[in-house]
Amino acid sequence: MLLDTYGRVATDLRVSLTDRCNLRCTYCMPEEGLQWLAKPQLLTDDEIVRLVRIATTDLGVTEVRFTGGEPLLRPGLTSIVARCAELEPRPKMSLTTNGIGLERTAVALREAGLDRVNVSLDTLDPETFQRMTRRKRHTDVLRGLAAAREAGLAPVKVNAVLMPGLNDQEAPELLAWALREDYELRFIEQMPLDAQHGWQREGMITAGDILASLRTRFTLTPEGQEERGSAPAERWLVDGGPQRVGVIASVTRPFCRACDRTRLTADGQVRTCLFATEESDLRGALRGGASDAQIAALWRKAMWGKKAGAGIDDPSFVQPQRPMSAIGG
Ligand code: 5AD
Ligand code: SF4
Repeated sequence: MLLDTYGRVATDLRVSLTDRCNLRCTYCMPEEGLQWLAKPQLLTDDEIVRLVRIATTDLGVTEVRFTGGEPLLRPGLTSIVARCAELEPRPKMSLTTNGIGLERTAVALREAGLDRVNVSLDTLDPETFQRMTRRKRHTDVLRGLAAAREAGLAPVKVNAVLMPGLNDQEAPELLAWALREDYELRFIEQMPLDAQHGWQREGMITAGDILASLRTRFTLTPEGQEERGSAPAERWLVDGGPQRVGVIASVTRPFCRACDRTRLTADGQVRTCLFATEESDLRGALRGGASDAQIAALWRKAMWGKKAGAGIDDPSFVQPQRPMSAIGG
């Protein structure tokens, strides 16, 4: 098991497959992009599958989420999914993507064994999309979403971040659209994980703001605590249900006490938290000839050092060196 000193057990592994991305969301990256990891720094497909195998067979991981950067940019994605689907016990597998290219790959990913996708989409307006992502790819995302739904990658979840002065008025419209299209919408509070370190607590749209805005058009009833478990999203039934909307209030209502996550960066570092300031190097161990048991021991040791919480709202909070795109959502 991946246990920490607060008694939490990590069963959900987030694997970043690349730090590159074909969008430039303003809350994530600067216009010019970032200094990407070089190929030799990246874990190979074989190394990724080996680590996922150790995590699932030796360390009790039951769910694997592939993330990026943009994971669809990783050439080996479908084959990585297919190989992980053969593991015993077979982990549940999902993908967090910006949706670009999903139109072409959704069926193959489903056939390879992917269970679900989370697609990031912050706006229904192509111009706002371009302002927020600095790219004209709105239609590609909508097509990718539809393809995921047709391919049975259900429930298709949509992640939206609201930014002041850009899309903060759009919450009800996004929800009406998601209900119509049968996507499960979740709003994520903007977190201090941008490469530019431009996040400001003052400007942030909070969960409270989002709920107030949604309630101008919908009746929201909270879903029970039991149903939430360790999920970061708090969910509400919309107009009596059965459809729901979620809010991930990482800043104003952190859920660290129930966290069940462990993370692996594209260059093979274990992170215990999005906001961790320390990492543990598994790539060095892999390439130095470590056995499965030795790697499992390093991973356990890393998780044992997991901090109680991220403390974003705490005055002493320090933003981690790595930006979100190099950690994985
Ligand atoms: N704050 C909140 N969410 C973010 N994402 C990326 N950067 C941030 C941030 N600073 C979201 C993306 C995507 C998911 C991986 O995380 O929009 O949905
Ligand atoms: Fe790419 Fe996601 Fe960052 Fe946007 S938020 S630039 S889609 S990694």
